[in-house]
Amino acid sequence: MAKKDSKEDEEIQEDVQEETQEEISTNSVSITPDEYVDIKDLPGVGSAVASRLKSAGYLDVIALATANPLVVSEVCEIGEPTSRKIIAEAREAAKMNFLSGLEFEDKRKSVQRISTGSQAFDILLGGGVESQSITECYGEYGSGKSQLAFELAVNVQLPREKGGLEGHAIWIDTEGTFRPARIEQLAVAKGLDPKEALQNIKIGRAYSSDHQMLLIDKVPDLINKDSKIKLVVVDSMMALFRAEYIGRGTLADRQQKLNVILHNLQRIADRFNVAVYMTNQVMARPDVLFGDPTVAVGGHIIGHVATYRIYLRKGKKGARVAKLVDSPSLPEGEVTFQITAEGIKDVEEEGKRK
Ligand code: GTP
Ligand code: MG
Repeated sequence: MAKKDSKEDEEIQEDVQEETQEEISTNSVSITPDEYVDIKDLPGVGSAVASRLKSAGYLDVIALATANPLVVSEVCEIGEPTSRKIIAEAREAAKMNFLSGLEFEDKRKSVQRISTGSQAFDILLGGGVESQSITECYGEYGSGKSQLAFELAVNVQLPREKGGLEGHAIWIDTEGTFRPARIEQLAVAKGLDPKEALQNIKIGRAYSSDHQMLLIDKVPDLINKDSKIKLVVVDSMMALFRAEYIGRGTLADRQQKLNVILHNLQRIADRFNVAVYMTNQVMARPDVLFGDPTVAVGGHIIGHVATYRIYLRKGKKGARVAKLVDSPSLPEGEVTFQITAEGIKDVEEEGKRK
């Protein structure tokens, strides 16, 4: 089963390699959705295509205008030329809604950051894990993806001068790996009350991909009730999807649902100025002969929606290496850090950016 699954992923991934140059990104431009034109009224979109688009989460022209043609083609099973054409039409229809550069700059000013616990790692990310963005971390088992989630869920609670936002967190656990004891241990190490630290994290355990979707749908309600929520963790994004969707026939369904979830998360990040941190699994590509054959699962979609992609791997002497793979404005780079009982820390001797 795993074999079959990774084969599908490979096929999607192949395109990802070639298409990462794609200019269109849903996270580089923010748009205010004031005016809604029904997508079925766009030239070239019939009601059949409109219903496919809608069930894939493209509910209005704004969503379509900011979508990636490859992703739309993949999740809606329509040809790439068609998806390019209808996206162009959607952009035309939505052009009055783009923010001016100044408005955009204002919005960027409200971005807040949560420390990873390691100064070097923070510098790699431009100051920590950012609000209004999705940060994805992928890497093999034990590479520290969940540990970074624990760290962020505690650090978000710290005062600002210590790298926090005096905030609260939501944790969507799809693998059953949330550990209250680890939160308490980290809280104590950082001078927080351990019970309070746990109290400040709302945990939703997802048992199926539909359930995961429902829990994510509830996030805006939770934030409306508790405006201190500044971090949403999804650990991990793909585990349930990979287990449930086996075989080529169901791949389009899986990608559609994934697309809806990811865009919901992006909307949440944007609208509530919160950071979204999600972990992702990896697979090996047997066709990569030189270099590291590890790639993230999930196909085009995750790579295009995540603003920051971090690849984590185990380094020498128990250290971890974080590589920034994709970011809108920061250079690619690598840093090492370590996972200790007290949490994530710089590596003693070095830890500076290579
Ligand atoms: P999967 O979920 O299995 O894909 O892996 P992951 O990337 O989420 O791994 P995770 O973040 O759970 O990292 C586990 C690793 O963190 C362990 O193998 C340890 O090396 C390290 N670790 C976890 N807790 C502690 C701790 O209390 N002290 C120390 N020193 N290391 C820890
Ligand atoms: Mg994990």
